[in-house]
Amino acid sequence: MNHDDNSSNPSNNRPFFDVLNANISRRQVLKGGLAAAVTSFFAAPAISVAAGRSGWNSQAGTALIGFTPVPNAEGGGAWPSIAEEYQFDVLIPWGEPLEPNGPAYQYPPNAADQAKQIGIGHDGMWFFPLAMGKFNRGANDHGMLAINHEFGTNQHVLGKALPESLEDVRVSQHAHGVSCVEIKKIDGKWQTVVSDRARRIHVNTPVAFSGPVAGHALLETRAGNIPLGTVNNCANGHTPWGTYLTCEENFNGYFGATNANETWTPNEAHARYGFSDGGAGYSWHRFDARFDLSNSDYHNEENRFGWIVEIDPMDANQMPVKRTALGRFKHEGIALTEGRGGRVVGYMGDDQRFDYIYKFVSEGNWRSMFDAGKHPLDHGKLYVARFNDDNSGEWLELTIDNPALAARFADQAEVLTFARLAADILGATPMDRPEWTTVAPNGDVYCTLTNNSRRTEPNAANPMAPNADGHIIKWRDADQHVGTTFEWEIFLVAKDTHGSEDSYSDPDGLWADPDGRLFIQTDGGQKDGLNNQMLVADTKTGELRRLFTGVAGDEITGITVTPDRRTMFINTQHPGNGDPRLTNFPAPLDGVTVPRDCTIVITRKDGGIIGS
Ligand code: FEO
Ligand code: CA
Ligand code: CA
Ligand code: CA
Repeated sequence: MNHDDNSSNPSNNRPFFDVLNANISRRQVLKGGLAAAVTSFFAAPAISVAAGRSGWNSQAGTALIGFTPVPNAEGGGAWPSIAEEYQFDVLIPWGEPLEPNGPAYQYPPNAADQAKQIGIGHDGMWFFPLAMGKFNRGANDHGMLAINHEFGTNQHVLGKALPESLEDVRVSQHAHGVSCVEIKKIDGKWQTVVSDRARRIHVNTPVAFSGPVAGHALLETRAGNIPLGTVNNCANGHTPWGTYLTCEENFNGYFGATNANETWTPNEAHARYGFSDGGAGYSWHRFDARFDLSNSDYHNEENRFGWIVEIDPMDANQMPVKRTALGRFKHEGIALTEGRGGRVVGYMGDDQRFDYIYKFVSEGNWRSMFDAGKHPLDHGKLYVARFNDDNSGEWLELTIDNPALAARFADQAEVLTFARLAADILGATPMDRPEWTTVAPNGDVYCTLTNNSRRTEPNAANPMAPNADGHIIKWRDADQHVGTTFEWEIFLVAKDTHGSEDSYSDPDGLWADPDGRLFIQTDGGQKDGLNNQMLVADTKTGELRRLFTGVAGDEITGITVTPDRRTMFINTQHPGNGDPRLTNFPAPLDGVTVPRDCTIVITRKDGGIIGS
C-alpha cells in the first residue's frame, strides 16, 4: 500500500550538519573500506562469486544481467509483462485453499473458509526448502513458503466499503496475517500439497511475547485477555536458524474509537503512532471491542501490535512470538546478517514520512546464545541511524542507560514500546519513508526510501524536496555490522530514470543476490506509462534493466528464490486495487471477475539463474 498519510513525527529532527553539498553522486566514499567479504548465510556455498566484492565499480564490464528488458511500451495495461527470455506462472491467489483438500475459493468469502484459505495482500515472503538426504535432494522443487498478507480493503475483501456485522469483520481479520503453505513443483508446475506444516496465522491466532517488554504492564489489558494475532504484515526477514520473521507495519489503522463508553483522546504516543478515532477505514472497532480504543477493557491492546513476529514455518503448532527487543514502530521489514563474532544483526525501516532506520545487534554469537538458553533476538542492542551530510553516520542506542531517555521513560520496556519517541529524543535522521533493507554479500546494506511529498528541506541523505519518486541509499557499517558508525552514499535516485527505458518510481521491495545484483520492486505511480515493476540493478556498474511489470493498480512486492536461484517468487498485491474494470488478473480479462492478489513464479526459459 502506498501509505500517503500524514507524518506523525513532530520532532523536527534535523541532521546535525547543514546542507553543504547534497552529495548524490559521490560513489567513491566507501572505497578502501572493509576489505574482507563478510561470510553471510545468504551466500550459498555452491555459488561462485567473482572477485571484486570488496568494493563497487570494480567489476565494470562483467555482464551480470543478460536479459532483454521489458520496454516501456509493453509495461502497462491489464496483464503482466516479462522479459522475453523469461516466463511466469501464478501460485496461491487470495482465497485458494491452504491445502488442495480445503474450502474452495468463492467470492466474497465467509469467515470460516477464509481462515483456511490464502489471505489477501500478498507481501513479504520466504522459501524454506524441504531438502531430503545428504545431497539436498528436493531443495529446489519442494519447500514451505511463508507469506505475509498485508492488507485488503473492505471493498476488495467484502465487496462493500464497511463491515455490517462481526462476521464481516472476521472475514477481513482472517484475510490478514500470514500463510505457511507447502509447495512443490510437480510436472513442471508449482502447486500446494497436503501438509502437516501448513497453517494460517491471522488476527485472532494466539501469540506470545518475548524479550524486555514481555510481562510488562504496557501489554496488559484490563480484561486480562491473552495476546492474539498479527496484522498489516508487510515485509519480512528470515533467520540463520531457519525461522520466518513477519513485520507489523500500519497496525494503527485497524484501531478506531466508538466513544460509546468514554471519550477517547490520543495521548502523545497515540499521536506519534498515528492512532485516530476513525482509523484507516476498516471499522473493525465497530463490531470487535478489542480494536475500540475507547473501550477501557482493552486499554493497551494497541501496544500489542507494531512488533516483529517470529514464526517457525516447519511447525504448525509453534506459537508465533513477538520479539520486543526489536522495538515497536511501523515495521516495514528486517534484513538479517551475521556480524562480527557471529552476532545476528538486523536492519529495519520504519515506513512513514520523516521516520527512521533502525539496527538490532544481538548480545553475542547467536549459536552460543542458543546454547546458553538465550534467544538471540531477545537480548541485544537497538540503535537508530543518524546520517551526517559528510557521508558518515552514527548508530544511536535506544537504552534506558542514556540519561536523556531515562528522563522520559521509566524502563527499557517503555523505551522499546515507544521506540519512535525515544528515537526522536536521540536525534535520529528523519528519512523519506524507509521501506525494505537488504544486505549484499560484500557487506553493503541497501534501503529503499520510497518517496516523501512533504519534504521541504533537502539534506544529503534525502536530497530531493519534495521527493515524489524516491531513492535508494546504501551504507557500510564499521566493525562488520556491529560498530556504531557507518559510511553511506546514495545508490540511485528514481527521478533520474524518468523518460528513459529504465524508468521507475517509488522503490520499495529490495533483495541483493549473492552475485551483486539488486532486485528493486516498486509501489507507487510509475512514469512513462508503466505499471509497478521489478528491475534488476548491477550494483557494481549501476546498470538497470526491467524484468517484470505487473497489472494496472497493483504493486509488486515480496521476493524469494529456491536455493539454486532458478525459480523466483514475487507477488502482485492489490491488482486493479480490487476493481474488475482495471484488471481481472489472474483470471482472463472479462471486466467483471474480481482481481486477486497472487504469487508470481518466475523462471528463465533456459533454466538459468534469475536476473541473468
Ligand atoms: Fe507495507 Fe511500507 O509498505
Ligand atoms: Ca503493500
Ligand atoms: Ca510502499
Ligand atoms: Ca512495502
